Amino acid sequence: MTDRKCPTDMSQGHLASIIAADIRLHHLYRPHLPNMANIWASQRLIYRPVVPTDDPFLAKVNSDPTDYTQSSNMVPHPTGPRDGTSYREFLTGKGQLLGCIICLGPGSAEKGTGDGSGDGQDESNPSSREREQKEPIPIGAVSLSGVVNPAVMHHRHSVLGIAIGKEHQSNGYGTDAIKWCFRWGFRFAGLHRIGVTAFEWNTGAIKLYRRMGLIEEGRQREYFFFDGRFWDAVCFSILEHEWRDKFEKAE
Ligand SMILES: CC(C)(COP(=O)(O)OP(=O)(O)OC[C@H]1O[C@@H](n2cnc3c(N)ncnc32)[C@H](O)[C@@H]1OP(=O)(O)O)[C@@H](O)C(=O)NCCC(=O)NCCS
Repeated sequence: MTDRKCPTDMSQGHLASIIAADIRLHHLYRPHLPNMANIWASQRLIYRPVVPTDDPFLAKVNSDPTDYTQSSNMVPHPTGPRDGTSYREFLTGKGQLLGCIICLGPGSAEKGTGDGSGDGQDESNPSSREREQKEPIPIGAVSLSGVVNPAVMHHRHSVLGIAIGKEHQSNGYGTDAIKWCFRWGFRFAGLHRIGVTAFEWNTGAIKLYRRMGLIEEGRQREYFFFDGRFWDAVCFSILEHEWRDKFEKAE
């Protein structure tokens, strides 16, 4: 009996210590819980709050006349510092669920552009490049609008806004930031639907949204007046279950 009981006790003790170690590991790694440490990062980008010192950067994002008229339906005007301030006020305003500056993470400077700011840094000087890469480099802004009023929050829908600085476009950053924004909206903000409306003349954004698999819901005909004629508003959206099928599984 003793011979048989002893090993059993030992094995129970052994089992208990294994379980305790397992629980410790479980608490350490928490594989089934969200990893909040990387919530403000995506594949190649990081996302930070908008601050007043971002005004010059946001003014720069608005300074390209083509990009500006692709994301603003205001009558075109020469853009300047005030447009940086009004963009910041929009991103941080009461109607926003989310407003972030999109940044390249430290060490992720783009090939051939140094820090990507195009500000004439000495590209051949490694120490200059290293200095630049220590701080995240702002490249654009992303927002989710329209669910903050408690009277309409039960609809759980929101509208995406995004702009990537001219010199950083066509590097996949827009796609990366939009996917991140969807993830945040569906997983953390409890949204059911995210919509985005593109001006008919913004063929680049329309191509991008189609390529990403957003559903083209339809058009509001001749909704905007621009450059001598009326143009459609092209409406896209993604629902939570579509996001889960298309993007979450791929993460
Ligand atoms: C739309 C936008 C956010 C896309 O960002 P991005 O970082 O360039 O996007 P990605 O690099 O992930 O994808 C680029 C793809 O989007 C499409 N695209 C987006 N903008 C385009 C443009 N101006 N010209 C041509 N194609 C464009 C193309 O399919 C392109 O793929 P390609 O480079 O292989 O041709 C960016 O162009 C932008 O900020 N534009 C100005 C503001 C704007 O239009 N905002 C959206 C309002 S609805």
